[in-house]
Amino acid sequence: MTVVDDVKARLDIVEVISQRVPLQRSGNSYKANCPFHQEKTPSFHVFPDRQSWRCFGSCATGGDVLSFVMRADSLEFGEALRQMAQQTGITLPQRGQSTQNEGAHKINEDTRAFFQRTLATAQGASAREYLEQRGLDKQAIEAFGVGLSPSDGESLKNHLVREGYSQEELASAGVVRTGDDGVNHDLFRGRLMFPIRDAHGNLVGFGARTLDGSEPKYLNSPQGPLFDKSRLLYAMDRARTDVRKEGAVIVEGYMDAIAAHQAGFKNVVAQMGTALTEFQVDEIRRLTGKMTMALDQDAAGQAATLRSLDVVLGNFQTKTTNNPGPDGATKTVDADPRIIVMPPGQDPDEVIHRSPSDWSKLVESAIPAISFRINAITSQGETESPEGKARCVAEAAPFIHLLGGGIQQANAVELLAGNLNVPIDTVKAALSRPSVARRARRPDQPRPAGTTASPFAKLDHDPMEEHCLQLLLGYPELRDLAGGLRSEFFQRHENREIFTRWLDAGPGLDKDGTLASVKRDGDDEVSGQLTSLLEKPLLPLDVNGRTASFMEVASRLEERNLKNLKSEEVKRFADSPPDIDGGEHDEILQLNRQIRKNEGLRRGQAQEISG
Ligand code: GTP
Ligand code: MN
Repeated sequence: MTVVDDVKARLDIVEVISQRVPLQRSGNSYKANCPFHQEKTPSFHVFPDRQSWRCFGSCATGGDVLSFVMRADSLEFGEALRQMAQQTGITLPQRGQSTQNEGAHKINEDTRAFFQRTLATAQGASAREYLEQRGLDKQAIEAFGVGLSPSDGESLKNHLVREGYSQEELASAGVVRTGDDGVNHDLFRGRLMFPIRDAHGNLVGFGARTLDGSEPKYLNSPQGPLFDKSRLLYAMDRARTDVRKEGAVIVEGYMDAIAAHQAGFKNVVAQMGTALTEFQVDEIRRLTGKMTMALDQDAAGQAATLRSLDVVLGNFQTKTTNNPGPDGATKTVDADPRIIVMPPGQDPDEVIHRSPSDWSKLVESAIPAISFRINAITSQGETESPEGKARCVAEAAPFIHLLGGGIQQANAVELLAGNLNVPIDTVKAALSRPSVARRARRPDQPRPAGTTASPFAKLDHDPMEEHCLQLLLGYPELRDLAGGLRSEFFQRHENREIFTRWLDAGPGLDKDGTLASVKRDGDDEVSGQLTSLLEKPLLPLDVNGRTASFMEVASRLEERNLKNLKSEEVKRFADSPPDIDGGEHDEILQLNRQIRKNEGLRRGQAQEISG
């Protein structure tokens, strides 16, 4: 039995959930108003015999006790496991990373000081001139610890060795790189150095900008447990207090963030050159309900940007509007994610230096993220034919359902109807059709969801899930085919976590890059499973073989998920025969149909808009 199974076996889902949500008995199961969206009639069910829960309403998600705690308390998988383990008296293996991290933080601090001194020497004259020309003043340069790496490639290493650090320590802190000759050299040479701190102020790495136009423009510390771009927001350590007071403003570049702080906009943080992840959004949400993202005009319509937005809409919007506090009471905070699209060819950095008041105006004129997303759907899709309009509605449905009623939702429906040039009521009718509503899951393919009993539930592993993950990790090109795969198809938490991280890693990385991103920190439950997946031999397959094998396993995972949904649906109705109205009936028929003819992953199907 794995630790996860052990913890779950000692918990009673009804007990855990009822500590947070008042449950009513209903036959052999329990129900309540769903804690994750606003509703008047209970569609949230808990099934003690399966130790599972599900919202049959607009969230359309479900899962086991751990996924409930993750969602209700806004915890990551590892945190939820730790918290629940503590309740059951199980001691989890320690991470054993903190002392090593402390050592690396210290090396980084020495490195920062060295780079700052270098900037102050004769060697730094042209870099200082560059900074001046970019409008950075002395205080900002000092406050952000901006420095210069010497160009000889040896000075830093020699300095740190004189300070008493070993080559291994330098390598694991990521400040040196081992060359083909087996000898360590400085990783950063002749670049402007931006120290990067985590939210607690620990110095975890550097961003290094070229000064001579060499590629890449920015070189960052190596991705790893210490420097994990998916969890960092640049300047968060300095912005925290102001973010809490005024909401967060997110810009794309380090230079933009520094310029903002220098001009007194201290609630500004920068992305790390990657799409926003759930962790980053969660971090902001813990501080504030108000976040505004400044998007580069060129980037605004791009896939990575839209994916960031989906994470924002999927996590920020729902969780903030309906945030259960530690006492179980629902605390309502206004979620207000907004978007600024920058004027063509301009960076926040330039606008702020030219005119701080122009920047303030831009921030104030930001539009709701949902409006931006709907505009992206209707401007990129085909909106003339009825089928095209229907596709746009189906694509927008998940976002609109997330708004859970109220004025924001009404505005969104109105905008969509206007863009498609159809009456509002037509859009409303299409949105409430079960076939559309059922697709209305959280758009970012959420991690917590449908974990239920399976033929493998008693095993310590799930061969189907493992095979699927092995393929995805082994053959990066399969990502293009994986659009229909959802985290809720994975029933074992460690597999689901690996899949979620793989999703977060996003396209554009090669096999090793993806793996490094999935590995992340020394989270034992996950890394153990990852190691075992990577050790297992994968049959050598040619391109066609991989594709076929993947489509097969993905389809089986989807089918299993549908069957689980079905059996929960049956239980829900068996216990308390509901007044099956047309809608629910349709929903069941639809589910049956899907199960019967599940021929694999169906992506981007057109939905009929009207009968
Ligand atoms: P300036 O061009 O000096 O104004 O810098 P900037 O910080 O505004 O950068 P830019 O708008 O070009 O890019 C935004 C962010 O994307 C940067 O701050 C980096 O985090 C990231 N980035 C840009 N180029 C690269 C690159 O070549 N490699 C990596 N890893 N990240 C990059
Ligand atoms: Mn810039």
